[in-house]
Amino acid sequence: MNFELKSLTLAGACAHKCDLLVQLVPEAFKPQGDAVSRLVQQALQAGDLEIRPGRLLEVYAPEGVAARRVALLGCGQGDAKSVRQAVQALAPALRAAGVKRVAVVLAGAPAGAALAAAVRTLAEVCYTYTTTKPKAQVCGVSRITLAVADVKSLQADFDVAVALAAGVELAREWANRPGNHATPTLLGNAAKALAKHPRLRCKLHGPQEVAKLGMGAFAAVAQGSKEPLRLIELHYEGAAKAQAPVVLVGKGITFDSGGISLKPGAEMDEMKYDMGGAASVLGVFRALAELQPAINVVGIVPSCENMPDGCAVKPGDVVTGMSGQTIEILNTDAEGRLVLSDALTYAARFRPAAVIDIATLTGACVVALGGVHSGLFSSDDELARQLQAAGDAALDSCWRMPLDDDYADGLKSNFADVANIAGRAAGAVTAAKFLQRFAGDAAWAHLDIAGTAWKSGAAKGATGRPVGLLLHYLLARAAHPVAAAPRKPARRSRAA
Ligand code: BES
Ligand code: MN
Ligand code: ZN
Repeated sequence: MNFELKSLTLAGACAHKCDLLVQLVPEAFKPQGDAVSRLVQQALQAGDLEIRPGRLLEVYAPEGVAARRVALLGCGQGDAKSVRQAVQALAPALRAAGVKRVAVVLAGAPAGAALAAAVRTLAEVCYTYTTTKPKAQVCGVSRITLAVADVKSLQADFDVAVALAAGVELAREWANRPGNHATPTLLGNAAKALAKHPRLRCKLHGPQEVAKLGMGAFAAVAQGSKEPLRLIELHYEGAAKAQAPVVLVGKGITFDSGGISLKPGAEMDEMKYDMGGAASVLGVFRALAELQPAINVVGIVPSCENMPDGCAVKPGDVVTGMSGQTIEILNTDAEGRLVLSDALTYAARFRPAAVIDIATLTGACVVALGGVHSGLFSSDDELARQLQAAGDAALDSCWRMPLDDDYADGLKSNFADVANIAGRAAGAVTAAKFLQRFAGDAAWAHLDIAGTAWKSGAAKGATGRPVGLLLHYLLARAAHPVAAAPRKPARRSRAA
């Protein structure tokens, strides 16, 4: 999608040639004597338009309006959340035949967050998945002009929103692709392609390198599949080399059958989304490439399939991860924490300022929080606070969950340092406790996006969450660089 930000008065917007002119109408709307203002007043008086977010009135353009059609769109208080809700209601109008050029008018001085919400939601409703459905009805809009009274104070927010929209789209696209169209190899290639942008580079590791690194937990998950695993490493270098990076670790299970602990058949197809964490990491790097902020970021994606096979890992098998800890695999369906454990050990190599892992980790998190908030687990209060603030700012919220040591009791094993599952109770927390053992010394947070990464049912599709949360966190960090902490030498793992 092609977005542009333009300074226009309401009269100027009336003279703007396009297929559809959308006037956002907040409670504080001030008519200015132009044709659209008159239309708004008329519609409100007649009761044909309500200001409640999402109320829409579509009409042919009256005299004095250059556009072909006009849509009046109630947006309540005009805050980001209301604007998002309003623009969602616009989807059918945007997808109508012959609508190519659209102008969206935000009267007055909208908050940067409201403008950003408009841009992001417009991009969201215009996206159509076509990779394996080429005849799907796509949205014909090719150019959207955001009209505001004064561009200057809004340009930065606009630029972030446009870059974020591209990142979210990339994340959705990769998450939506079926397992046979989004293999570990193809995900690795997608990361490589991103590295063409300035300041980005990508390293791909295959099965032999992963074995050499001693990643026995990651390799155990991959061994039941014919698809070779990939350890994807992305680097964005926007700040001085001496500045410690933020490391993002994304779970990249391109299909999770459960392995020998096979999942039931119903909705198993949705386990193609089990690389939603990986997709969000790719999405963040796409946005970083666009914005080029002053920060260093490393992305680590352990990617493989989890399949049952004669070679597959079995319940009761004990493996040794890169950290040297032995793990008893009591359930092969708890594979995400296995691949992440080695990726977290690997992350310590970069002497990070913070490590954030993102994973569609547990069904228990879906039960706890549904599709509203992602689950946030962190032993670092400051990092947790920053991630919560970033999530709120990006309309991509997370909810902090507990991490008391008592929750780790069930992970004890008679045959290894740790078991990969505990009992049924508090499954999202015990999974996080497992990960915490591998998190190293840096500030660490874990985002369980099992409930938020995709939608089920008729609206089945990836959401692109939590690209917004992560990007806002990174940009806030770039704007307020923390005093460079002296970098400790990387800890040597026993296996390396
Ligand atoms: N990828 C799943 C988690 C998941 C399940 C996400 C359903 C979204 C919807 C993960 O690998 C998994 O299978 N977790 C198990 C853990 C259990 C065996 C301890 C789960 O949540 O059932
Ligand atoms: Mn699983
Ligand atoms: Zn999984």
